[in-house]
Amino acid sequence: MLSRTSPFSRRSFLQLSAAAAAFQIVTEPMLAAAARRRPFSKDAVMIDSNENPLGPSQSARDAISAIIPLGGRYLDTLTEDLVHTFAQQEGLNPDGVYVFPGSSPPLRFAVVAFTSPQKSYVTADPGYEAGVMAAAHTEARVIKVPLTKTYAHDVKAMIAAAPDAGLFYVCNPNNPTGTLTPHSDIEYLVENKPKGSIVMVDEAYIHFCDAPSTLNFVKAGKDVVVLRTFSKTYGMAGLRCGFAIARPDLLEKITDRSGWNFMPVTAVAAASASLKEASLVPERKRINAAVRQETFQWLDRNGYSYIPSESNCFLLDTKRPGKQVIDAMAQQNVFIGRIWPIMPTCVRITVGTHDEMEKFQSALQKVMRGTTAFSLPVAPGPGRKRRALPS
Ligand SMILES: Cc1ncc(COP(=O)(O)O)c(C=O)c1O
Repeated sequence: MLSRTSPFSRRSFLQLSAAAAAFQIVTEPMLAAAARRRPFSKDAVMIDSNENPLGPSQSARDAISAIIPLGGRYLDTLTEDLVHTFAQQEGLNPDGVYVFPGSSPPLRFAVVAFTSPQKSYVTADPGYEAGVMAAAHTEARVIKVPLTKTYAHDVKAMIAAAPDAGLFYVCNPNNPTGTLTPHSDIEYLVENKPKGSIVMVDEAYIHFCDAPSTLNFVKAGKDVVVLRTFSKTYGMAGLRCGFAIARPDLLEKITDRSGWNFMPVTAVAAASASLKEASLVPERKRINAAVRQETFQWLDRNGYSYIPSESNCFLLDTKRPGKQVIDAMAQQNVFIGRIWPIMPTCVRITVGTHDEMEKFQSALQKVMRGTTAFSLPVAPGPGRKRRALPS
């Protein structure tokens, strides 16, 4: 697996040509940092990268502490144990589960494996951009299909748009909208896609919602790759651990491109401990949903428009160029997420802690009411009608 020898900087990413970016594993913090300078200050509210402010669970922290004295060993059996624990919990064949440092590497290498100038990459718009950047590497045609009016993947339009598809990328819940695509729609895509193409379902945010997983398609031997990560609900973004789950022959195509390396023992120990902590996912799902709900209620009371989400992020419609609001919020020390060109007035907000969202609310009021030193044109005040977002 590739590793960086120098710390990533916004400048270094911005200086990359599109072609050079195609050779990188692109991750969420790289995209967030490319959108703006992000300080590492204790006071800053960082709700721009869909991280989990709770961090690793207590059992994960204990497991990390316990493994540190053994950090001089490669301990690859720990990775096997992690695979077996996950495979047993999900009823999977362990040969169809592969551990990576996060889900960004398998996302990229699946695009490299399954797309080419003759095999298109098909994704939703707005959608997570990392695969689009990887498709530049294979020179595949990139087809972006707008979400439906309910912000689901438009699977029929995706199939119709790409008889030459190599890979369909479905993110469920979707990043950036946090909205769901019905399982039956994904099944339709799996059953009706062009012969030889692959469906990759990115379940980075699946634990925040009640949607069923698509691991059943892998178990049924379909042409499906599922991605999972410990970066979101499990709060391990900086520790780096994730899975690609697929038929062994498909996994082999991905790992042929990625190469092989040992996983950091801290990440693997923390991931195993997290999987074994039965209350972790329901508890964090409950906390995220509660903070998200109180944020939505506040937005409703104050007349802001947003897309209701089932995840740890949502799109807020600022009714003006989103970049202006991002910059003005940064002046308030609140760092919010980027915009997607198809919805230029919307900005992505990550659900932080209760306190962080209170700071977000007060900064947003100042920015939108034009009462800051870096004021924007005065926005309509509270009480204005919520308008439908563009579909
Ligand atoms: C949709 C989606 N997929 C994959 C990733 C990659 O996460 P990681 O490499 O940290 O597992 C992210 C990160 O934000 C994401 O939003």
